[in-house]
Amino acid sequence: MFDESVLIESPVSLARRERVKNSSGLLSSTSRIRATVWLLKISDSITRHPQYKSNELLYTESNPGANVSVKWRLNLTGVKFRRLTYWDLARVKWINEQCLPENYLWRTWFSLYRAYKDISWVAVDEKSDLAIAYCMNKLDEGWSFWDRSRWVKKGHVFSVATLPQWRRRGIATALLALSFESMFDKGCQEIFLEVRVSNTPAIRLYSSRFKMQVVMRVPRYYHDGEDAYVMAVRREDVEDDIRLLTRWLRDQGLVESAED
Ligand SMILES: CC(C)(COP(=O)(O)OP(=O)(O)OC[C@H]1O[C@@H](n2cnc3c(N)ncnc32)[C@H](O)[C@@H]1OP(=O)(O)O)[C@@H](O)C(=O)NCCC(=O)NCCS
Repeated sequence: MFDESVLIESPVSLARRERVKNSSGLLSSTSRIRATVWLLKISDSITRHPQYKSNELLYTESNPGANVSVKWRLNLTGVKFRRLTYWDLARVKWINEQCLPENYLWRTWFSLYRAYKDISWVAVDEKSDLAIAYCMNKLDEGWSFWDRSRWVKKGHVFSVATLPQWRRRGIATALLALSFESMFDKGCQEIFLEVRVSNTPAIRLYSSRFKMQVVMRVPRYYHDGEDAYVMAVRREDVEDDIRLLTRWLRDQGLVESAED
């Protein structure tokens, strides 16, 4: 079903193994080259395989002979991603009102935009150029969730939503990956968010695709009395995966640059 040439060791596990060896935390040039080859093999097999359109990605992490575990399946046909612009704001507010009970005043959206537009992202329908999903983020700092004696910079996923008719295509996955990457680029060591304890789809998204763990439960966090889970992930546990995905999104031409 899937071209065997991609079933080689992924650069993520490669890098992880090498990091154990040379503890510098950086990809060696050999693993960088192998990562590139691996990505090329993926794109090549996708474009050649009739079952997949050119901007679908099946990311597998497995060894030859082992069962293929599909990590991300994305179908981003007709979708583009860009950093939040002023012109997207009203639409983001509207999407939020369609998708979530936590709604905010215009001035909250505007201040978020002013302070954090370079780390917040929208997905846009290519045909209409209108936002169909968003991920709004903030920068924060505090004691590490893993080491209470360490003060760290944190990225806070403030709100994320995809319009119902666009769901289960990997749009939130791509938006979160782009958001995590821009927060890492601002020096964040941990990323966290709050989620309703009943929000199974979102919890699954954060845990399965972004290795986020529940680090706390906050009683009656929401206005209707529901508890929140605080979920978080350390940069070193997820960064390799994130950069692989964002590089793929850019290689596919799905991410508009600021000049576009
Ligand atoms: C949660 C939400 C943002 C996901 O958006 P999306 O664009 O559909 O997400 P993706 O397509 O990237 O989903 C990736 C993975 O998340 C999990 N997931 C997403 N929706 C799911 C659902 N309804 N049921 C179970 N798992 C789900 C799955 O693991 C999915 O992978 P799969 O489709 O290969 O099984 C969207 O459902 C939404 O807008 N919900 C309402 C707003 C909300 O709850 N926001 C989060 C607040 S904390």
